Amino acid sequence: MFSFSKLSLPVIQAPMAGGINNPRLASEVANAGGVGSFGFSYSTSQKIGEDLLATRALTNGPINANFFVFSAVDLPAEAVRENALEALKNLPIEGAYSLAIPQAPFFPDLEEQLKPVWEHCPDMLTFHFGVPSPSIMIRARLLGIAVGITATSLKEAKAVEQAGADFIVAQGIEAGGHRGIFNPDGADEKSTALELTKQVVRGCSIPVVAAGALMDGADIAGALKSGAVAAQLGTAFLCCEESGASPAHKEYLLKHHSRGSVFTTGFSGRPARGINNEFIQLMENKLVLPFPIQNTLTASLRQLAARTDNGEYQSLWAGQDYSRTRQLSAKHLMLALKDELLIALG
Ligand SMILES: Cc1cc2nc3c(=O)[nH]c(=O)nc-3n(C[C@H](O)[C@H](O)[C@H](O)COP(=O)(O)O)c2cc1C
Repeated sequence: MFSFSKLSLPVIQAPMAGGINNPRLASEVANAGGVGSFGFSYSTSQKIGEDLLATRALTNGPINANFFVFSAVDLPAEAVRENALEALKNLPIEGAYSLAIPQAPFFPDLEEQLKPVWEHCPDMLTFHFGVPSPSIMIRARLLGIAVGITATSLKEAKAVEQAGADFIVAQGIEAGGHRGIFNPDGADEKSTALELTKQVVRGCSIPVVAAGALMDGADIAGALKSGAVAAQLGTAFLCCEESGASPAHKEYLLKHHSRGSVFTTGFSGRPARGINNEFIQLMENKLVLPFPIQNTLTASLRQLAARTDNGEYQSLWAGQDYSRTRQLSAKHLMLALKDELLIALG
């Protein structure tokens, strides 16, 4: 069974859905003493199996397979759909994109996606947006796979512990990508990663991993001093040579620092933090379809933006401190994080 104490560097390279994770990135991180992850939220079971096998061929280190716990969702009434479509029509982007109201099923079947996980047994299985079914938790336990679940509040963390998870990922408000809050329509305490880590360490008895704007070894030391067993870093890995982030995503991370990062529901229907761009601004106060229907609705627009290297219409997910992102290989980033952590720990 996986144990955090076996990591020579207590770092999880965050799961990042959308083509960013790949066997090279995950294996380099795992070979350097951390955990290499995959954000498999929208992946087919075939792709999941291929990625897990390819990564295992490159490392014996720990690998994490991450999934979204989607909630059942219905298509809203026609008037709402029309409004949401209207907001996306005639956007000032060069090239053609299609807009069609998605049809059910609106998200992949988790049981189907997990088949290759049960077959290839990665060291870790993590979930975002909620707690999976008890049968999934039991099967992971029987197979010796450590389960981690994101929490954004102490209340969610207690539910994660209650569900029998092995660890909690305490996601602060600074974190890039989708906020893992269970109910996006409920109140959000907006705690920072370190505030939340301290609260969860006090209130729960399973290990806690801190996530949110942790960019260097000194930040990791801060997380460990707050009681975390490890730090989960997403943005810090986006500009690695091995990262599959788009060229525009990397360029904005490295050069467009004055924009800052903001939350938007415009791309997917759920709040996610990314670099402020034209699309986010145009979508402010616009009606969006529920998650992940809005995500499917904006897919063609985002694909056009990626093909034409247009950063203004891509989801440039990034944490609050993205201006500190470094352009290094994953191996060199891990070495730098280790040196900095040693210095910070004194
Ligand atoms: C580009 C990007 C994609 C992400 N996708 C996922 C995902 O698929 N699953 C998940 O649990 N977390 C995802 N996250 C959130 C991370 O797990 C983590 O909470 C976050 O990266 C921490 O903040 P940081 O980016 O400032 O390091 C994503 C983050 C980023 C930046």
